Amino acid sequence: MLEVKNLEAGYGKVPILRDINLIAPAGEVTLVLGPNGAGKSTLLRTLAGFNKPTVGTVMANGRNITGLAPEKMVANGLRLILDGHRVFPRLTVRENIRLGTRGDAAETEKHLKEIYEVFPILHEKLDHRASSLSGGQQQMLALAQAFVARPEILLVDEPSLGIAEMLIPTILDFLRRWTRLGTAVLLVEQRIDIALRYADSVYVLRGGEIILNGPAAELADGDAIERLYMDG
Ligand SMILES: Nc1ncnc2c1ncn2[C@@H]1O[C@H](COP(=O)(O)OP(=O)(O)OP(=O)(O)O)[C@@H](O)[C@H]1O
Ligand SMILES: [Mg+2]
Repeated sequence: MLEVKNLEAGYGKVPILRDINLIAPAGEVTLVLGPNGAGKSTLLRTLAGFNKPTVGTVMANGRNITGLAPEKMVANGLRLILDGHRVFPRLTVRENIRLGTRGDAAETEKHLKEIYEVFPILHEKLDHRASSLSGGQQQMLALAQAFVARPEILLVDEPSLGIAEMLIPTILDFLRRWTRLGTAVLLVEQRIDIALRYADSVYVLRGGEIILNGPAAELADGDAIERLYMDG
């Protein structure tokens, strides 16, 4: 699990995040909501090591990973999937997925089978260049690549961005599958109503601070959350 205590971070001397306390338990989807500019991406980038926190601690399964460089974060089982679809355009789908794989070949086979079940289009396009895929398909590919890497903690920034409406549930459902592997999924989403259905707990961020948190089942009223964005 991921445990964040009293975290503060920003850009240069400009503070953005203030006193962030958050837990993303193993085997759960923890959803981070908030209006534009709230600091959601800054939070994920800080947790993934791209920004240095000025205050606070970040623990990954009991290990203190505060302020480590991004590659050290990966070595500690933490992985970030950014908004926009970062795959290697000139490599094929197969090559892109292979970049993520590690360890046990039989395990990998099992995970690949699962990926092709959820995203059959990736199987059909295994030998196509990633650049020939649609935005949604590239997002699937980015998720597939991360899935075979089996991180303990997965941070995902707006996977629905630029995705056709009908594909969003497929992508969120895929993230739920990770929880069965014991992964702690920390998901940032703008699509409140859809994302709430796939989350266990929710944090609402505004102006760099957490203004609300609780079980997703108790915060299932997306309109109420949206009204919170406006207040103050
Ligand atoms: N590279 C940067 N340098 C300086 N300030 C930045 C940088 N990136 C973001 N910010 C500022 O940090 C604040 C939080 O931005 P952030 O991108 O984390 O918000 P967000 O919640 O992800 O918003 P969105 O919903 O639009 O993705 C904003 O005021 C933004 O202008
Ligand atoms: Mg963002």
